[in-house]
Amino acid sequence: MNPAEQQEEPVCDVISGLRAPIKTLPVRLLYDARGAALFEQITAVEDYYLTRAELALLAATLPQIAERVGPNARVIEPGSGAGRKTRMLLGALAAPATYVPIDVAENQLADTATTLRDAFPGLEVLPVLGDYTSALAMPTSAKQFATTLAFFPGSTIGNFEPSEAKAFLARLGQMAGPGSMLLLGADANANRDELLRAYDDSEGVTAEFDLNVLAHLNSAHGASFELDQFMHRAVWNAAKSRIEMHLVSKKNQTVTVWNEAVTFARGEPIVTEHCYKHSPAALEAMLRASGWKVLETFVDPDQRMRLWLAQR
Ligand code: AVJ
Repeated sequence: MNPAEQQEEPVCDVISGLRAPIKTLPVRLLYDARGAALFEQITAVEDYYLTRAELALLAATLPQIAERVGPNARVIEPGSGAGRKTRMLLGALAAPATYVPIDVAENQLADTATTLRDAFPGLEVLPVLGDYTSALAMPTSAKQFATTLAFFPGSTIGNFEPSEAKAFLARLGQMAGPGSMLLLGADANANRDELLRAYDDSEGVTAEFDLNVLAHLNSAHGASFELDQFMHRAVWNAAKSRIEMHLVSKKNQTVTVWNEAVTFARGEPIVTEHCYKHSPAALEAMLRASGWKVLETFVDPDQRMRLWLAQR
């Protein structure tokens, strides 16, 4: 990374997070290029049931969902990612008009656009480069669409703090417009053992994914973390209904980030991610509070992953 690129990434929230009483790092650090590739690997790991369950659920329910959405829809997708679920959705909808992927990863966004234009001739693809956690203007469509469907699968809603999740869902509704629909995928599992396995898998991929944050800080933020002096740990916080991803310091140590010294006690964690597991009742309340009315929910046979179809 050249110095110009380094400055594009905000450094202050990294330092302030590491200075906080409970050390915390911004979630985006998990999803650099290597992190995104490692996450793709996680989705194929036996212990990580979420992706498998959601794909099966989509396959089983998309015909019904497409029926309710109707033809000529505009689909908007915050955090469009690798696009497998998107292709399933667009393939199930009757003559989708427009697809608006929103992502911060410029190359991936361009690849997604090319792939989808090839796969769905006639589909208008209008990529938006930007951070979907802030307000973004929708691009003008040259096509006449009948409805807008916002698509937010993968249980990514669980990465937001609950108040931020509500604000995000409200903003998404505003972006999508009056009468628009939402298809949201979320994990509601509260089984501690299953969750600990899913977030600390026996193949060690999640550990590698988590530790990559430190590698990223070393290369992009001039940090001096020794990767073998930290270990990944998943914690189920039942009171908050969330999995916490921790990187635990194996010893008393001092690390520099740019020129700031950060000290760690042995056993002290850095929190890298929260994955909330909202109960169906909690998620429904959240949707309602952010202006969405639930039309239908679909749950996987193991009662963990759930798809929510809602409307503004
Ligand atoms: C990409 C946010 C949906 O919360 O399950 C997977 C991220 N972290 N394993 C999730 C993740 C560790 C994942 N999301």
